[in-house]
Amino acid sequence: MKVLGIETSCDETGIAIYDDQQGLLAEALYSQIALHADYGGVVPELASRDHVRRIIPLIQQVMSEADCQSGDIDGIAYTSGPGLMGALMVGAAVGRSLAWTWKCPSIGVHHMEGHLLAPMLEDNIPQFPFLALLVSGGHTMLVDVSAIGQYKIIGESLDDAVGEAFDKTAKMLGLGYPGGPVISELAHKGMAGRYKFPRPMVNRPGLDMSFSGLKTFVLNTWTESDKTEQTKADIAYAFQEAVVDTLAIKCKRALKETNHKRLVIAGGVSANQCLRARLTELTKKNSLDIFYPKPQFCTDNGAMIAYAGLQRLSAGEHDGNGFSTTPRWSLDNLTPPGFN
Ligand code: KG4
Ligand code: ZN
Repeated sequence: MKVLGIETSCDETGIAIYDDQQGLLAEALYSQIALHADYGGVVPELASRDHVRRIIPLIQQVMSEADCQSGDIDGIAYTSGPGLMGALMVGAAVGRSLAWTWKCPSIGVHHMEGHLLAPMLEDNIPQFPFLALLVSGGHTMLVDVSAIGQYKIIGESLDDAVGEAFDKTAKMLGLGYPGGPVISELAHKGMAGRYKFPRPMVNRPGLDMSFSGLKTFVLNTWTESDKTEQTKADIAYAFQEAVVDTLAIKCKRALKETNHKRLVIAGGVSANQCLRARLTELTKKNSLDIFYPKPQFCTDNGAMIAYAGLQRLSAGEHDGNGFSTTPRWSLDNLTPPGFN
């Protein structure tokens, strides 16, 4: 079964074709980073308009690279939430219309289920059950995963998502967007020990997190500093350390509580080398296994949507004549493939 995946939930147009026999056949991504850079964050209206411009040429490109004609596609999966309403509507409308024209089924996919299943695109895939740490620009969650579609959120951020905290910190320091890659790059030049930022909520029981206070800490430190380039790097270092430490403490606690032997990390922030190294060390120490996607599949992409959609389409799930988008949608509400 070949599935065309369409991702347009935020600022990346991602298209891919995944085959259940041959794996990923082709994929393409157009990032709108340059478009939003001047604003220090994503402007929803600009994002929607740009998806409209990019989506058809990207689908044509991927179809040609995979050597596929319309009749070769057995199903279409598009991100139907959570995300920006206008952006989601572009992918959903194009996906549903193409499916109608090509006489194949289509399905709306939960964006975070796409992220969660992204490690399945690699050679060494995690077996169920496992604990997943999902860290993106919009979400920070610890998820107890029993099987596809059986997710229990056991911890989450009460305010800013981790990626959002990276982005806001970068903005305060006058660095570019998105903040994650710039902060982690700059942190290499930072001096260990000059600043120590708090590890929010680690002294309280439970698995919930909070990252908005760190932002204030960064702002105060920066405002009262000498504002040199070295200070910027030192703050980037201290910020990243605080975030990574906090996530590692919460993961350790969640692994202990759930007794899972496997940890999966996914979402844009899972591309962070410091986070990967810290969690790898943690799992090694406790004789557990860790899985994460390659960096290009940590951030938004069409391949993860094609893969997640395939699981549901092959179980007989599909859209009716219409389609809907769900900008706010909890992972907890999903059901196993073919359930409804
Ligand atoms: O998963 P994603 O592409 O989009 C959402 O679903 O939100 O995640 C984007 C987020 C951004 O906040 C970005 O700053 C962050 O992932 N990010 C990183 C890194 N690469 C991307 N954060 C930390 N370190 C990175 N290397
Ligand atoms: Zn995402």
